[in-house]
Amino acid sequence: MEGIKFNQIGVSFKGSGSCVPEQILTNQKISQKVDTSDEWIKSRTGISERRISSSEDNVTEMGYKAAKTAIEMANWDLKTIDLIVLATSTPHDLFGSAPSIQSKLGANNAVAFDLTAACSGFLFALITASQFLRGGSYKRAIVIGADQLSSFVDWNDRRSCILFGDGAGALAIEATSEYDNLIGFNMRTDGGRGSFLNLPSKNDQNSIIDNIDFLMGGFSSIQMNGQEVYKFAVREVPIILEKLFKETNYSSDKVDWLVLHQANQRILDSVGDRLKIPREKILSNLEKYGNTSAATIPLMMDEAIKNNRIKQNDIIATSGFGAGLSWGAALIKWG
Ligand code: COA
Repeated sequence: MEGIKFNQIGVSFKGSGSCVPEQILTNQKISQKVDTSDEWIKSRTGISERRISSSEDNVTEMGYKAAKTAIEMANWDLKTIDLIVLATSTPHDLFGSAPSIQSKLGANNAVAFDLTAACSGFLFALITASQFLRGGSYKRAIVIGADQLSSFVDWNDRRSCILFGDGAGALAIEATSEYDNLIGFNMRTDGGRGSFLNLPSKNDQNSIIDNIDFLMGGFSSIQMNGQEVYKFAVREVPIILEKLFKETNYSSDKVDWLVLHQANQRILDSVGDRLKIPREKILSNLEKYGNTSAATIPLMMDEAIKNNRIKQNDIIATSGFGAGLSWGAALIKWG
C-alpha cells in the first residue's frame, strides 16, 4: 500500500500523554443547575460526565503534564526538543501559554507558541509542527491540545453547558528519513458560517482621558447553534475523510481506528456509518470527558495507546471540526 509521496524527511510518532482535572461534573449534578436530565443528555450526546478545572489544573498545568508524559514515553532528553506547539482557545495567558509549558518542562532549546483553531486546533497544530519537521527546520516536536472551556460556558444555558469539559493531550513527533507516518492531511475553513459556534469578545467601553475611549478586554460565553453545528459535522467530516482516502490511495476498510473530535456520539456514529467504518473501530471516550475542544483527539489517542488498542503501525484516520468553522483530517500510521 502506498502513502503520500515520500520526500526525504517524514514524521514518526514517538509518544503520547494526557491530563484531566480531578473534579467530576456528572449529568446528575448538572441537572441541579439547569432543567435537564441524565437521560436527555446521554441519549442526545452520549456524555455522562465531564472534568472541570480548578485553579491547580489550568491549561498550562494540564498541557505541561500531558507533554511531560509524552516526552517520557518517547524517552527524549529535554534539550533535544526543538518545537512546542500548544493548540488552545483558552490560554492561561492571552499572550501565549506554550512558553510557560516550555519553561516548566525545562525544554530550553525549544521554540514554543500557541495556535488557535478551537476544536480543530490539535489537528491543525499537528500538521503545522509536522511541516516544520518535513521541511528540515526541526527534528523533535511536542504538539499539545489543551482547553478549559468550563471558564467560558454559560452555565445557565442548558443547550450548550452539557457538552463541554476540560482536559489536555499531547503527542511527541520526530523527523525521520526512513518513512512518513503522516500519510496525508487536509484542512478547511469557512468563516462565513462562524456564527454557528463562537466565543466573541465582550468589551466594556471606558475612557482613558476625555475624548479618548478604549475597550476593556474580555469575552462573553460560548454561543452555539447546536443543530447547524451538528449538520455541518455530519456533512463535512465524511467528505474531507473520503477526499483524503482518495488522495492517499487508501480506503476506509484499510483504517484500523477512526479517531474523531469527541463532540457527540451521534456525530461519531453517523460519520462512521457514512464511511462504512464499523462501530468497533470508532474510538470514543466522550462519555467520561465530554467535548474538551483541542484536547479530545490526543486525549483519545493517549488512552487507546496506553490500553494497547492503538498499536505500532496501526492506521488511524482522524478528523477535527468545530468553531471557525474549521475542520480537517489526517491519516496517520502510529509509530
Ligand atoms: N436538556 C433538556 N432539554 C434540552 C436541553 C437539555 N440539556 N437542551 C435543549 N433542550 C430542549 C430544547 O429546548 C428543545 O425543546 P423545545 O422543542 O421545547 O424547544 C428540545 O430540547 C430540542 O432541542 P434541539 O436543540 O433541537 O436538540 P438537539 O436534538 O439538536 O440536541 C444538541 C441538541 C446540542 C445536543 C445537538 O444539537 C448537538 O449535539 N449539536 C452539535 C453541538 C456540538 O457538537 N458542538 C460542538 C462542536 S465542536
